[in-house]
Amino acid sequence: MNILGIESSCDETSVAVISNDKLTANLISSQDFHTKYGGVVPELSSRAHLQIVIPLLKDALEKSKLKLRDIDVIAATAGPGLIGALLVGLTFAKGVAYSLQKPFVAVNHIEGHIFSGFLMDEKPEFPYLALVVSGGHTLLLLVESFTKIVKLGTTVDDAAGEAFDKVAKMLGLGYPGGPKIQKYASLGNPEKIIFPVADLKDKYNFSFSGLKTAVLRHIQKNYVANNPIPEEELYNIAASFQHAVIKALERNAERAIKNYDVKSLSLVGGVAANKALRDALTKLAEKYDKKIIIPSLEYCGDNAAMIAFRGSKLYEAGITSGFDYSPFPGLSADHFA
Ligand SMILES: Nc1ncnc2c1ncn2[C@@H]1O[C@H](COP(=O)(O)OP(=O)(O)OP(=O)(O)O)[C@@H](O)[C@H]1O
Ligand SMILES: [Mg+2]
Repeated sequence: MNILGIESSCDETSVAVISNDKLTANLISSQDFHTKYGGVVPELSSRAHLQIVIPLLKDALEKSKLKLRDIDVIAATAGPGLIGALLVGLTFAKGVAYSLQKPFVAVNHIEGHIFSGFLMDEKPEFPYLALVVSGGHTLLLLVESFTKIVKLGTTVDDAAGEAFDKVAKMLGLGYPGGPKIQKYASLGNPEKIIFPVADLKDKYNFSFSGLKTAVLRHIQKNYVANNPIPEEELYNIAASFQHAVIKALERNAERAIKNYDVKSLSLVGGVAANKALRDALTKLAEKYDKKIIIPSLEYCGDNAAMIAFRGSKLYEAGITSGFDYSPFPGLSADHFA
């Protein structure tokens, strides 16, 4: 059984192949040119996906020692994401599936992240807690099986990754902010500035907009506009901000570990690449004698391996999508029937 996965929801084009349960290719092309705009430009992103998706497919097949006709199932990200960007991968995947007359599986991008721990040698055991921390989402989930996911908490405002990106912008560190903040934070004192960590009534929910504003106020109060913040202080602000985000994530995860009888904890999504967060959650899991599964870096950010894997599980559960599948209600073929 050979499964092709395609991901194009934001600024990574990725093509992966899972052949007889083994990942044989996971090629990722990142659109670094958005850096100069301070964020992802949707139209440019769509065009770049269009240019690279066919070469990536060719390379992925070659790496897997397969021909296109050997592919049995085609899975692609169907949302959430940038509409134009999504349409490139999704339409391409449907076209390939149609031409081969093979099943097509539409995959939810976040479900891809949720199960990305299964790409590791050591896999999560059901039921497990998944902490999804990405550019657009911050979710705490109880994952009971490949088809049952219970939402325990979510962010009520910004996602953690979004907060990393916005604070990096305030500090003049550029986009994407996460890796820059991590680098600066490693040189600073996380206890130098006490930034607030919101604790909500819904005990598994998160809020990061207050923290983001607190960083802004700190900068406005202490530094004159247009004057560069001293390097040392950039390190301390980055470290203290990162510390506050980690505390919030850790606190809610600990509450859930205490209240749910789970076997494993899995940290996933782009922000799961953060070293200090990985260390903190590993420590937390060890404290409660839980297995901790954190994907290696290539499976934290957007990648097609997680889409192919999720697609394979949906296909095994008998879930496929028609060639007329549309992620945009009202625009499906049914609408025009
Ligand atoms: N080392 C790091 N530390 C903190 N954040 C990081 C790190 N590396 C990447 N990030 C953050 O991860 C986010 C990107 O993750 P991902 O690609 O999963 O998000 P997305 O696909 O845009 O959003 P979503 O998955 O919610 O649709 C960005 O906000 C980025 O700043
Ligand atoms: Mg993502």
